[in-house]
Amino acid sequence: MTQPLRIGIAGLGTVGTGVVKIVRQKANLLAARAGRPIQIVAVSARSRNKDRGVSLGGYGWEDDPVALATREDVDVFVELMGGADGPAKAATEAALAAGKDVVTANKAMLAIHGQDLAERAETAGHVIRFEAAVAGGIPVVKALTEGLAGNEVTRVMGVMNGTCNYILTRMEEAGLPYEDVFEEARQLGYLEADPNLDVGGIDAGHKLALLAAIAYGTQVNFDAVELEGIQQISIEDIRTAANMGFRIKLLGVAQMTGRGLEQRMSPCLVPADSPLGQLQGGTNMVVLEGDAVGQIVLRGAGAGEGPTASAVMSDVIEIARGTRLTTFGQPAHGLEIARPARASAPAPYYLRMRLIDKPGAMAKVATVLGDAGISIDRMRQTRHDDTTAPVVIVTHKTARDALDSALRYLPGTGVVQGEAVAIRIEDV
Ligand code: NAP
Ligand code: HSE
Repeated sequence: MTQPLRIGIAGLGTVGTGVVKIVRQKANLLAARAGRPIQIVAVSARSRNKDRGVSLGGYGWEDDPVALATREDVDVFVELMGGADGPAKAATEAALAAGKDVVTANKAMLAIHGQDLAERAETAGHVIRFEAAVAGGIPVVKALTEGLAGNEVTRVMGVMNGTCNYILTRMEEAGLPYEDVFEEARQLGYLEADPNLDVGGIDAGHKLALLAAIAYGTQVNFDAVELEGIQQISIEDIRTAANMGFRIKLLGVAQMTGRGLEQRMSPCLVPADSPLGQLQGGTNMVVLEGDAVGQIVLRGAGAGEGPTASAVMSDVIEIARGTRLTTFGQPAHGLEIARPARASAPAPYYLRMRLIDKPGAMAKVATVLGDAGISIDRMRQTRHDDTTAPVVIVTHKTARDALDSALRYLPGTGVVQGEAVAIRIEDV
């Protein structure tokens, strides 16, 4: 029998226990597919005595993940603890220095330290694989790195945070305000320990930055991702968008433009009948566009024990088979530093505001938009109360700079109550 591939798993939470279950329950299938047995030799977590609903019998135990990562009998260090720095980074670096390959689900660590870790791996002649870090069970890292290797990637788009998609779709279905659904998501255990990672778009931004690095052969640069969360989305916007045939999604877009690499993660209106518009609940969707292949749509579970462990195992099996891919699909030392696009590509925008109901109010708003060079495509005024009227304007394509300038001038008209809401309408 061929030598087993010996793995050490640091982190026995949702994902780690899922990996242990697959290895225990599907040993024959994995061995047949990998061409050799996959064997867990040791594990690590914070608490040794916690009941994890899975037997850890027969595995060694290390309190310190660095000790696990450097054990002589470990071939592949599987990092499932999380966190951009701290023990995850220390153990990953130690594993590479000790001659191990690494599999991780840690998007935060790779989005911030990915270039450095990829260079360390390459220098040491080892690999880091991270299928589970982006969109959970969807094999999008492999799709981009391998399946689309013959394409120039023209655009990467996706809904890559299941919690945000759950919140937005639940608000629409139940007609509930953001705050109520946020609380519901918290009680269901959907939110990260720091919920801002989800609703602030940071988690999804990490994932987008990783895909952009593979797609465009550039160094991962999370700092250049233009981020906007979903905290400001109101039920009124969701209803108004729905009436106009749109849904609001936290959408990531990465594309190489003449102005540099554009990476943005922000709420966008997408047509309700498009694949992205149809995406319900906690599911993820990634849309890849290549010059030869056209558009590919991948949809599936972006989180959870089974789907994420499935992705981790795909990397473990890849290594067991002897496939040695570079972290971002090209040698790390050759990856270019992309010039970040300072402004996103022009797009139509949805603008919602409350106008004080008096003669000439609409004309003043139209003048501000016109002065900023913004042309109106459609506008609608509905259900005004005694003093104000809700107004929705859809602009023709406009630059975000021009829109921001108009938004700054609107309060000065004296006819707009509160703040105007502006949401990009994405051509998907
Ligand atoms: P989790 O349930 O919070 O589990 C984290 C595990 O790491 C726990 O077992 C914890 O030990 C262990 N741990 C934390 N600090 C440690 C330390 N200093 N030393 C040793 N062990 C330590 O997290 P998770 O949801 O499984 O996520 C793991 C990774 O997968 C993260 O990078 C996450 O972003 C990524 N990911 C998760 C999902 C998902 O659906 N959950 C999806 C995609 C990617 P104790 O159990 O003893 O506390
Ligand atoms: N918090 C993430 C989500 C978990 O909601 O999609 C998976 O990365």
